[in-house]
Amino acid sequence: MLRLQSPLPERYTTATADELAQMIGAAKAELGSRLFVLGHHYQRDDVMRWADARGDSFGLSRMAAEVTEAEFIVFCGVHFMAESADVLTGAHQQVLLPDLNAGCSMADMADIEQVEDAWDELAQVTDVSRIIPITYMNSSAALKAFVGRHGGAVCTSSNARAVLTWALEAGRGDMVLFFPDQHLGRNTGYELGYGADDMKVWNPRLALGGLSDFEVKASTLLLWKGHCSVHQRFRPEHVTAFRAEHPDGIVMVHPECAHDVVEMADLVGSTDNLIRGVAAAPSGSVIGVATEIHLVKRLDDETPDKTVVCLDPLICPCSTMSRIDPPHLAWILEGLVSGEVRNRIQVDGDVAAWARVALERMLAIT
Ligand code: 13P
Ligand code: SF4
Repeated sequence: MLRLQSPLPERYTTATADELAQMIGAAKAELGSRLFVLGHHYQRDDVMRWADARGDSFGLSRMAAEVTEAEFIVFCGVHFMAESADVLTGAHQQVLLPDLNAGCSMADMADIEQVEDAWDELAQVTDVSRIIPITYMNSSAALKAFVGRHGGAVCTSSNARAVLTWALEAGRGDMVLFFPDQHLGRNTGYELGYGADDMKVWNPRLALGGLSDFEVKASTLLLWKGHCSVHQRFRPEHVTAFRAEHPDGIVMVHPECAHDVVEMADLVGSTDNLIRGVAAAPSGSVIGVATEIHLVKRLDDETPDKTVVCLDPLICPCSTMSRIDPPHLAWILEGLVSGEVRNRIQVDGDVAAWARVALERMLAIT
């Protein structure tokens, strides 16, 4: 998706790290309680140090709904998270994203036209009133609104199991259309006891998702063919190599990883759950983690009695998360000090109303 971030003035691009830290610190002090900075766990350290609260995407959406006093929420994360924050915050609050190009390649793998086309195609072969659409948090507000309108809910990696249980529990629906991450859908489906025959991949580029009428009707979970480019890099060979080097090591992976990797892990969890898993591991543990590298490095730095390494030796940064950097943060905050709101993320009208329905359903389920 094309979003246009204007180039920053030279004041920010030529400043040293110390100068930027001074600008950010001074602007934060000046704005005081009018400002709240949220930071996703994948943010770089030089940005995360300024966050008033850190979290995974579920935790941050909760916080956005709860921080009712702050006039400005600066979201250090990616675009879909800032959209959700805008939907969940009050009319008196404004959400700002320091760099408009901080998107998510996974979220871009399902757009609203494709999802509407899929729904129309499904309506020709089955009763769509029995299908519950579930979208992962990593999706545009338009998709969340679609889900809200059609009786579904949003989920995140920390509550996908609860949301799928809600969708498929007695009477609510017979089938789930899950987008955009096939891996989170599949891993959660297996966790709930479904087998490979119950879950089919829906390829939006092919007629009827590349499936026959029979395959659609026989499925309980239709998994959109999308993935996270960061987490899909992790392979079973990485786990095998880690275990060969550290026979007593512990393997922890994010559920956006493919199922063959998840099957080999000791713990599977959202970023918050991985953090809790590392904290609970015995002192002296060596822990191999399959998730974004900024979080892995921070876990290693912040738990000196344990060794935390990335399972992929080639390292997996999320390039769009890394777009939020001190120059953009300083530019946004100094704008606020001077009375200028830059990079406001605003979801309007009907889309906001239905996206809120889908997000609030998730918050009520979990
Ligand atoms: P969580 O924050 O839900 O763990 O998701 C990770 C992620 O990929 C966010 O973009
Ligand atoms: Fe998107 Fe993956 Fe980056 Fe998360 S880590 S923002 S899912 S590309």
